[in-house]
Amino acid sequence: METYGCQMNVNDSEVILRIMQDAGYALTDDIGQASVILANTCSIRDNAEQRIWGRIEQFRLHKRRRQGIVIGIVGCMAERLKDRLLESHTVDLVAGPDTYRRLPEMIRAITPDHPQIDVLLSRDETYADISPVRMDRNGVSAFISIMRGCNNACSYCVVPYTRGAERSRDPQSILREAHELADNGYREITLLGQNVDSYLWRDADGEVDFAGLLEMAAGVSPDVRIRFSTSHPKDISDAVIGTMAAHDNICRHIHLPVQSGSNAMLEKMRRKYTREWYLERVEKIRSVMPGCGISTDIIAGFCGETEQDHRDTLDLMEKVGFDSAFMFQYSERPGTLAARNYPDDVPPDVKTARLNEIIALQNRLSLESNRKDVGKRFRVLIDGISKRNGDEFCGRTSSNKVCVFSAPGYGIGDYAEVEVVSCTSATLLSELARD
Ligand code: SAH
Ligand code: SF4
Ligand code: F3S
Repeated sequence: METYGCQMNVNDSEVILRIMQDAGYALTDDIGQASVILANTCSIRDNAEQRIWGRIEQFRLHKRRRQGIVIGIVGCMAERLKDRLLESHTVDLVAGPDTYRRLPEMIRAITPDHPQIDVLLSRDETYADISPVRMDRNGVSAFISIMRGCNNACSYCVVPYTRGAERSRDPQSILREAHELADNGYREITLLGQNVDSYLWRDADGEVDFAGLLEMAAGVSPDVRIRFSTSHPKDISDAVIGTMAAHDNICRHIHLPVQSGSNAMLEKMRRKYTREWYLERVEKIRSVMPGCGISTDIIAGFCGETEQDHRDTLDLMEKVGFDSAFMFQYSERPGTLAARNYPDDVPPDVKTARLNEIIALQNRLSLESNRKDVGKRFRVLIDGISKRNGDEFCGRTSSNKVCVFSAPGYGIGDYAEVEVVSCTSATLLSELARD
């Protein structure tokens, strides 16, 4: 089993693993031993798909060596390319994101001449009753999908096509999973959805919106931190911001993808907000929760982007002072509104130059943001051993910054009170706080 793409896909792989285990399969780390190889794939940018085509080539070699093994492509690329994946004659199984319950049955039905394909999208599948087999090795942080699909129509984005319509999951099943995690020693739970702010569950007992769900999740245990991702700037409500502020164990961090700082681009991207709206939301968040971390996603070189549009993005980044960002070059996705309506006309070298400028600016902003934390104290959840120095731990602040420090007597999963001594653009170098 291999996983590509976003955290939601990682979580889906954990659901798949449960379904496969229940059908008698066991996970192996050794691809040479596997009788079934599943790749859970991503279509978000062309380079994501190119990588997977490369993997399929390698699977072909395994198959040549060991007749009878099953090669399955599941997830977003399966949904987007459908039977075109079978043309390679390497793939035996193509399954979209809403068909995982059928995987064992489909695998049984495969014969050399009969590959199996199911890419039907569902209006109500949320895998609510399936307990994911946790693959995160630290045993401290875990993810819970609270919804699937997306009802927005951002013009550049393939997700509504690969994941289908938005649907929320029963809050009781979410809470059950959260309690299970807490009982098993997990200390951090991230609630996942493409647009968590539009979470909405209705039944005979009434209605639960995202603010309500957050409140319920915060109640699971005072020792369990709650995070969430992704928020949409057009939908993040004062109620959500208020609920965060009211609970110490809801982390002070919001991932709020802006995509562009230019109103002309935002309009064309169909993001349904303006830069002024975005800046107002940031101001609101900071007025209610000073010190709240804000991170973002940015796309460089969208259709028709002028030098001025690009300057507007740099200017907005500077105004907000993001703590961190994921930054991408625009990649046209076939079939999307943008691909149908706007030429992908920013030359590749210009896209690269703009992206590099955005990355350089973000490095400076991250460093400036971290410098402001030097001398401050934070409560950090230890979630691993530092990669640089095996004697040190790493962990995150509530605002989602990485701290590295030595803490004799502590262990992974403990909270530690640290003081920041110095920093880089990526890390707060810290020590245990002395009282
Ligand atoms: N649901 C989230 C993001 C999902 S995809 C949201 O609405 O923000 C993650 C990120 O990939 C997006 O925020 C965007 O920055 C980037 N992305 C999506 N489609 C892209 C494309 N066609 N080219 C480049 N980047 C893209
Ligand atoms: Fe894509 Fe927009 Fe939905 Fe995010 S909100 S997944 S960018 S369509
Ligand atoms: Fe995620 Fe990639 Fe699909 S980002 S939703 S796996 S297209």
